[in-house]
Amino acid sequence: MRVGILTGGGDAPGLNNVIRGVVTKGINAYKYEFVGFKDGWKGPLEGLTRPVTLADVAHINDEGGTILGSSRTNPIKIENGVARIEENLKKLNVDALIAIGGEDTLGVATQLHKKNFKVIGVPKTIDNDLSNTDYTFGFQTSVAIATEAVDRLHTTARSHHRVLVVEVMGRHAGWIALETGMAGDAAVTLIPEEKYDINQVATWVKKRFERDQYAIVVVAEGALSTDGDLVTKDSTLDAFGHVKLSGVGEGLAKRLEELTGIESRSVVLGHLQRGGTPVAFDRNLGNRLGLAAADALNDGAFGQMVALHGTNIVRVALESATGVLKTVPAERYREATAFFGA
Ligand code: F6P
Repeated sequence: MRVGILTGGGDAPGLNNVIRGVVTKGINAYKYEFVGFKDGWKGPLEGLTRPVTLADVAHINDEGGTILGSSRTNPIKIENGVARIEENLKKLNVDALIAIGGEDTLGVATQLHKKNFKVIGVPKTIDNDLSNTDYTFGFQTSVAIATEAVDRLHTTARSHHRVLVVEVMGRHAGWIALETGMAGDAAVTLIPEEKYDINQVATWVKKRFERDQYAIVVVAEGALSTDGDLVTKDSTLDAFGHVKLSGVGEGLAKRLEELTGIESRSVVLGHLQRGGTPVAFDRNLGNRLGLAAADALNDGAFGQMVALHGTNIVRVALESATGVLKTVPAERYREATAFFGA
């Protein structure tokens, strides 16, 4: 069998580990041949390929990014996009496709499956917001990077008796902020799921400042105040209709300085959270999902996605991962508030 493989959407540490898992088992156990599609859905859309052999995956277990490249190309928005993909897959004699991606990439995979194409999905996003999988790879690495950054910001904030607002990724789900805020001992953590009252935030900051003479605030890029709108970088949308967020931290630092009288600064961690080598958890999760995807191919489990339930890798319907985002439950946020201002 000739198997196509692609990685789509924002990259996440762990992508190469999935590729290594699928290709190693696919070739050694099942004698498959792999066709690597470059740059997400752009690859099958434009027929851009590269070989993926055992030699290609031999030394990528500690490598961030993706050897296949990625993009946010949305074939559904392109005239005859899906038909062009079908045509190219046929031309290249590709029998089945492994799509590694988040909501958008897997949404396209679902469409292809509905057209009877043989697709298997692997969930990916640093945001950890895909349904029907307990964790996505990349998330633990992002939280580790963000926590290390917050640890470093503690010492400079303490030296200057400042408030430091740290903006992390998370458009609609605040998992990275929630876990970074608790691990990094933030005075307050703000997430998109829970609108914040700026006066309450200022009270928590002042309380922490009374104790420590400095405070750290962690805010997800998509966090909203009770009387504000999303803060966007510019008005352009990507191919899947997402706005580019950034700037919530800067505005928040300004308001906090006005309300508390404490000198405040902000820092945006941005793509630092997606770059570099994956932590061991993400490497192993990626490897295991890749192995399971090869098994799913062998079992003909098309239209399925491999997923993490507890500590087990299971198969679920591809479409059950997309559509509804896995957001932070109210009780998880309430749990974290015990440390706010404390
Ligand atoms: O989808 C993951 C993510 O890292 C989001 O957290 C973030 O908002 C977005 O990607 C950034 O996308 P881009 O790299 O296209 O700017």
